[in-house]
Amino acid sequence: MGHLIDGKEIARQIKEELKEEVQGLKEKGMQVCLAVIQVGDDPASTVYVRNKKKACEYIGIGSKSFDLPGTASEEELVSLVESLNQDPEVNGILVQLPLPKHIDEDRIIRTISPDKDVDGFHPISVGRLWIGEKGFLSCTPAGIIQLLKRSGIQMEGRHCVIVGRSNIVGKPMAALLLRENATVTVTHSRTRNLPKVTRTADILIVAMGKERFITSEYVKDGAVVIDVGMHRDAENRLCGDVDFADVEPKVSAITPVPGGVGPMTIAMLMNNCVETVRC
Ligand code: GUN
Repeated sequence: MGHLIDGKEIARQIKEELKEEVQGLKEKGMQVCLAVIQVGDDPASTVYVRNKKKACEYIGIGSKSFDLPGTASEEELVSLVESLNQDPEVNGILVQLPLPKHIDEDRIIRTISPDKDVDGFHPISVGRLWIGEKGFLSCTPAGIIQLLKRSGIQMEGRHCVIVGRSNIVGKPMAALLLRENATVTVTHSRTRNLPKVTRTADILIVAMGKERFITSEYVKDGAVVIDVGMHRDAENRLCGDVDFADVEPKVSAITPVPGGVGPMTIAMLMNNCVETVRC
C-alpha cells in the first residue's frame, strides 16, 4: 500500500502560510493585486478563473477581472495587457489559456511584462529557470516540488522520469528537478520502450494527457508516482494518467486524482502573486 500524498491538505497549508504573509505585508502598507483576463466563455476556463479569484479573496490578494468576448481581436488583448503592464496597482497578470484560435497565444505571453508573469510562461521566465536565476516558476511543476518536499521525499541523487515534454509541465519540471540535484530523464510519445525507461524511475512524474495509461507494468516496486493528468472517464468519474487502482499497491507514495497535483497549481499561483512584492 502506497502512502497517499494529500495535495488538498498541502495546498491548504501553503494558502494559510500565504494568508498570514499577506496580512503582514498589508500592515507594512503593501498590497498584492492580480489581474485575471478571460477571453470568451469556455466553461472549463470559467471554472479555473473563478477558483483563482476565490483563492485570491481567501488569501487577501486583490483581483481585477477582465472578461473579453470571444470575438475580441488580438490587438485589443495586446492593448489591455500593455496597459496592465504599466498599471502600478497590478502586480501580476494572468491570461487564461487556451485563447480563441484567431489570437496568437505566444505573442500574448510575450506581451506580459516578465516582472508580472505569475504563470511563468514568458520566455524570459523560462530562461531564468534554466540558468538558475530568480524568476517566476511555472505553477504545476513548482507545486509538484512542494508536494515532494513537504512529504519528506528526497530528490537529490534520485532518478526522476518525466512522461511528457510540454512547455507548461514536462520541460519546466525537468529544470526544477535538476535544481534539486535529481538525475532527470524526459520521455515523450516517440520514446522507445517506454515501460523499460519508466521502470528505472525512483520518482515517476506523468503528464502525458492519456486516461489511466500508466499501469503497474510501467512502475518499479517502491517508486513515488506523481499524476498530473485530469480526465473524466466513461462513467463521468475524475481520473488521471495513472491507473491508480493497479499502480497504488506497488508504490511507496502516490498522488490521487482529484486531490493530488490539481490543488497545488492554484496555491503556487498565489505564491507567485505574493512573490511580486517580496524583497
Ligand atoms: N489554462 C490551463 N491551465 C492554465 C494555467 O496554469 N495558466 C493559464 N494562464 N491558463 C491555463
